[in-house]
Amino acid sequence: GLDIGKLLSKTGKVTLDTGFVNTASCTSAITYIDGDAGILRYRGYPIEQLAEKSSFLEVAYLLIHGELPAEAELNEFTDSIKEHTLIREEMRRFFDGFPRDAHPMAVLSSGVSALSTFYQDALDPFDQDQVEISTVRLLAKLPTIAAHSYKNSIGHPTLYPDNSLSYVENFLRMTFGLPTTPYEIDPVQAKVLDMLFVLHADHEQNCSTSTVRLVGSSQANLFASVSAGVNALFGPLHGGANEAVLTMLNRINADGGDVNAFVRAVKDKSAGTRLMGFGHRVYRNYDPRAAIVKNAARDVLEQMHRADPLLDIAMQLEEIALSDDYFVERKLYPNVDFYTGLIYKAMGFPTRMFTVLFALGRLPGWIAQWREMINDPATKIGRPRQVYTGATEREYLPLEKR
Ligand code: ACO
Repeated sequence: GLDIGKLLSKTGKVTLDTGFVNTASCTSAITYIDGDAGILRYRGYPIEQLAEKSSFLEVAYLLIHGELPAEAELNEFTDSIKEHTLIREEMRRFFDGFPRDAHPMAVLSSGVSALSTFYQDALDPFDQDQVEISTVRLLAKLPTIAAHSYKNSIGHPTLYPDNSLSYVENFLRMTFGLPTTPYEIDPVQAKVLDMLFVLHADHEQNCSTSTVRLVGSSQANLFASVSAGVNALFGPLHGGANEAVLTMLNRINADGGDVNAFVRAVKDKSAGTRLMGFGHRVYRNYDPRAAIVKNAARDVLEQMHRADPLLDIAMQLEEIALSDDYFVERKLYPNVDFYTGLIYKAMGFPTRMFTVLFALGRLPGWIAQWREMINDPATKIGRPRQVYTGATEREYLPLEKR
């Protein structure tokens, strides 16, 4: 019915909503969040059930196509992804050109952007078949590009994908395997990483997803839109938070582990940082994903026999923050990133790969949201208004008079 945007523009009025705190940019049938109750559902299915019972590719199918796949559909989807895991040889050479110390997120976004150069046969956003093949290519190639970005950073040779392995196993092997030695999959690691990808797979109109939609609203192709999403995820207030949490925990540990002193410094703003991994624009309650990750972190570290003093520090931080008025009043709870870094670290990922792992998990959400946007007849090019606060009209002064 009522188009408020049209109404306001007719009256010459605009709403100012910095950070889009209260402004919906679209309608969507993909992900439901009730931030006050701490509820998250993909296509109606509670995140707890999907995390426990589903696999990442099954969830990717669900997000993108709207329904859980039947067995034959899942097999077909998985096979088509396996068919496209290789990246072009020319693209493999890109990685030699990046500086060794490049951040893997910068390499990842460049890689995704470059896909537009190789697949010019399938860039039309309105051709269903082309969108389908681009979807499969992205899902298939992102782990390969991500693993290459890691190998580049440590100066190791890259490995070709092994399609006898599952999606996550293949990524683990390409990341940690060596061409000289057979790589042994650790089933605990593979299962947990798959589950973490499920937890990250979509989160409605967050910063990176909104970026994907905004870029896509200009009818830019899927690769161009998703590479913009990767860049939006790079920042420490969004996907970069998992890296920032580990940096923070390491700092507290190096300073002698005084958690109370750190919380005090956060509150009086002398710590120079927020309590990373805490707080969320939408959740004013425990992030349901954080609850799942917290339990997984404890189990995984135990199963992998990796005691980590940082886990104790994280748990103490949580306990102190949850009983402190500052955090209680502001409804600040741990978000998904508070414990994920500890698991990634136990698996052997360096801190700079953490946000890349987030990107791998979020990919199906970006794709599903882009497809929903492009197929929605109500979609218009995203073009926010502004409230101008600059100078009123001024007379131009010639250079010699300034
Ligand atoms: N530590 C300390 N104080 C905080 C924190 C925190 N982590 N988060 C918010 N606050 C405080 C703010 O200082 C502000 O207090 P004030 O009213 O006294 O000024 C109040 O809580 C509200 O904070 P806003 O910044 O207005 O909340 P917003 O919704 O804009 O920010 C965000 C949400 C960015 C996630 C914020 O909580 C934050 O910076 N958290 C740390 C970074 C982080 O973990 N990001 C990951 C987000 S989840 C994700 O991307 C998967």
